Amino acid sequence: MFSYANLDLSSPEFKKNAHEIYKQLRQNEPLLEIAMPDGQRAWLSTRYDDAIQILKDDERFTKNLQSLSPEDYSAIMPHKEMDLISKQMLSSDPPDHARLRSIVSKAFSPQMIEDMQNEIQRITDDLIDRIQEKGSMEIIADFAFPLPIIVISQMLGIPENDHYLVKKWSSDFIESANNRDKLKEAFPSIQAFGRYIDELITERRKHPGSDLISMLIQAHDNRDRLTAEELSSTIWLLIVAGHETTVNLIGNGLLALLENPDQLRLWRSDPALAQPGIEELLRYYSPVEIATSRWARHDFTWHGKNVRKSDLIFVGLAAANRDPDQFENPDRLDITRKKNKHMAFGNGIHFCLGAPLARLEGKIALSTLLRRLPNLRIDTTSEELKWRSGILMRGLERFPVTF
Ligand code: HEM
Repeated sequence: MFSYANLDLSSPEFKKNAHEIYKQLRQNEPLLEIAMPDGQRAWLSTRYDDAIQILKDDERFTKNLQSLSPEDYSAIMPHKEMDLISKQMLSSDPPDHARLRSIVSKAFSPQMIEDMQNEIQRITDDLIDRIQEKGSMEIIADFAFPLPIIVISQMLGIPENDHYLVKKWSSDFIESANNRDKLKEAFPSIQAFGRYIDELITERRKHPGSDLISMLIQAHDNRDRLTAEELSSTIWLLIVAGHETTVNLIGNGLLALLENPDQLRLWRSDPALAQPGIEELLRYYSPVEIATSRWARHDFTWHGKNVRKSDLIFVGLAAANRDPDQFENPDRLDITRKKNKHMAFGNGIHFCLGAPLARLEGKIALSTLLRRLPNLRIDTTSEELKWRSGILMRGLERFPVTF
């Protein structure tokens, strides 16, 4: 039988063929051992029910590398930089997780986000005004990237001039995540990001505002519910989680619709379909291909495989989202799909905090693009579309269109 042991989950080639490979894995090898380039022992899980089990199981799996293996934690990078990327909710287990999440969760309630509708619409229209006369654009750079970074930066109070710096630092991290060698290479970028966040905190302490960073500083200074490391790390997480993912929802979502003209016509014919439509786009080309890593807390046997303490577990969210045991005709894009409990935002205690914001941004972005640019099509004269490298995400490198 063909061996998948050397699959490089981070390569654009894997992303291109991923759904074919997932289909075979779900049937034949639902827990696949992967050889990681940095030598870590790792597993890829591809079934829907298994994904739910892993994401809900805090007994067998941990998100906190420092508690599991302090030596590994210290060996990757100096503590200051390791703390920056890991003293936040997504890398924490109970009970710290609930404390860290509750401090920010009020700012992401569905009502607070709904109140941002007009502002997101204004930013979207403004971006389209800038390119409408041109007749062509590169969706990622001209539209999908600026929209979410402007929105999250407004929430956090990050100056517009700094958006491109923040983008570079976030991308450097995302591309290196889960590979210790690459993480070491990304060290200067992580260090610069940390210094920038320190400066933001100092500045906002002098001039507090109504933004999220000022609110987090208050939580640290007044009630002492957040350590200094957790404060910086939480700001870091909100910046990174808040834009790369949504860029991919907009890019991948538009691609799926342009590849499926019947669904595109349907979306345009009935604005109410944007609601189930965005859920289907999240399922079909999931922006987060693989949930962030978990480590096994101890040895156990599963699907006949011996998982050992400290092994890395990749939860294939994109694979789970095409599991035929859960979704009828999983490879078909159907924006009217009724039963759609997709896993694009994860599951369990780490379920995406920004989901209401991401859904709203995705809906406004795609509906406005399709309404204002009726002749939108993929620019076939340009280069072939290519998926970006990196394990965690699915997103296009460049996406040229004409209209
Ligand atoms: C389409 C866009 C998005 C997708 C697909 C997405 C997906 C996810 C997923 C899969 C997780 C869980 C990861 C895991 O369990 O390992 C997660 C967590 C998280 N997301 Fe999102 N996300 C999106 C947008 C956002 C936005 C706009 C924000 C806002 C800042 C955000 C903030 C977070 C946070 C803070 C967590 C950690 C939650 C916790 O640990 O309790 N996300 N996201």
